[in-house]
Amino acid sequence: MVFSIGPSVERVVGTMLDVLGGARFQLELEVENRKVERLYTIAKRDQWNLDDRRAHFFPPREPGMDVNAWLNVTDEQRKAAARCFSSVYYGEQGAKVISAQLTAMATTNEASKFLATQVMDEARHVEVFEGILRFIDQVHGMNPFLNALLTDIARTRHREEKLIGMNLLVEGLALAAFKATLKGLRELGISEQGYRAVGEPIEGIMRDESRHVGFGVVALPDLLRGASRRRKMEIRLRQLAWLGLLYGSIKYHQRDQETMGVDHVALLIDLLADHERRVGECEATVLVSTERMQALIPSVDRVVDAVIRRERRAA
Ligand SMILES: [Fe+2]
Ligand SMILES: [Fe+2]
Repeated sequence: MVFSIGPSVERVVGTMLDVLGGARFQLELEVENRKVERLYTIAKRDQWNLDDRRAHFFPPREPGMDVNAWLNVTDEQRKAAARCFSSVYYGEQGAKVISAQLTAMATTNEASKFLATQVMDEARHVEVFEGILRFIDQVHGMNPFLNALLTDIARTRHREEKLIGMNLLVEGLALAAFKATLKGLRELGISEQGYRAVGEPIEGIMRDESRHVGFGVVALPDLLRGASRRRKMEIRLRQLAWLGLLYGSIKYHQRDQETMGVDHVALLIDLLADHERRVGECEATVLVSTERMQALIPSVDRVVDAVIRRERRAA
């Protein structure tokens, strides 16, 4: 007996057309948000390729080269930097995945195109931190607070929450941490060639990250408009929990930051002040003020201390 698959395929195709044949990819050609369109134009213009500057940033390591002397840092400072940069490296991996999710969820043509550039930017940032870490040491384990934060942002099915978590919170953290790190390295007296290997690529990344934060600020109001009372409450709760994890992810590296010459307290103050300013800029009345988060700091401090004690006992 000859088995004919034709009728089954016909039925499946028919069902697919009924169920999935909507306009998922049919995005409006009309530009809805000119500010987003402008950011896309800037993103195209400012793409850069690490390969063009790899030899400038990371000269080949000679066998037996004393990396500490080359960077003009102590062994302890170099290892502390490698642990902090490892967290950034995982953060960039998370940003790549989450911006790809957001690209797939965008409902306007200009937002979808901008987010596609962000995916490429984040891939480049992953590549840059791979280069820095290989040059100064190796990739270390992941900060559990950042891991929890990125995992929850990746898991939420709401695109406005992803945008708040990624483009406002995580990107804001990256900007504040990079700024404090560059200042700390300079004050520590890192060599010029050391700054070229670590500081200059980070300066390039900061320009990209500013654009990503800018996208969050201009795109968010459209997504939050018309949110129900219940949805607003859910968003606020999540924002507060994520602010707690964000704070924990910095606090977790306090000792390493201080070894690197980074003013840990100033970094936290900057981070919260920047977030507060951005919440004001995007006129997102749905979001809560960071003052509410400040009340949670003693509780988060206790969680961080408990995690660090447990890790030390296990080591
Ligand atoms: Fe990034
Ligand atoms: Fe980014």
